[in-house]
Amino acid sequence: MDNFLPFDFISSSTEETIECGRRFAARLREGEVVSLRGPMGAGKTYFTKGIAAGLGVKEEVTSPTYTIVHEYAGEKPVYHIDAYRLQGDDDFAAVGGEDFLYGDGVAIIEWSERIPDSIPHNAIVVEIRILEDGKRRIICLGF
Ligand SMILES: Nc1ncnc2c1ncn2[C@@H]1O[C@H](COP(=O)(O)OP(=O)(O)OP(=O)(O)O)[C@@H](O)[C@H]1O
Ligand SMILES: [Mg+2]
Repeated sequence: MDNFLPFDFISSSTEETIECGRRFAARLREGEVVSLRGPMGAGKTYFTKGIAAGLGVKEEVTSPTYTIVHEYAGEKPVYHIDAYRLQGDDDFAAVGGEDFLYGDGVAIIEWSERIPDSIPHNAIVVEIRILEDGKRRIICLGF
């Protein structure tokens, strides 16, 4: 985890949020879990699009709200998880969610607040805040 530096970035557009995700992806190693926090419409999925692009995923990344998990083939497998519709940790276990967190890929989790006990302690937390002017503040505190 020593490859991680904290960052604090203001994004004025979806393109900038994607670019932020892309740069962040360059530091991700196999098996890492990214916990994305922030309210509905903050830009978690756009940030994930950038991470996936940075990891070499060619497919379009779309929100896995109804399916819970989307898997993409990049340089390493990319698992995009949306816990919004889950009732909690038991529900996550029931859909086999933990298999995605302890494998060889990178897991990115939206609404990880819903499954607090399932998130590994060494997950990288990225928080996206919606500012009064509509810009987004994207913060990673590092470790
Ligand atoms: N700087 C920005 N970065 C990202 N999205 C932005 C930005 N400014 C405005 N938006 C808008 O905010 C929305 C972000 O959508 P996105 O699906 O990424 O949010 P989300 O955090 O994944 O939401 P949900 O919790 O519903 O999954 C889009 O409609 C996008 O056009
Ligand atoms: Mg989303």
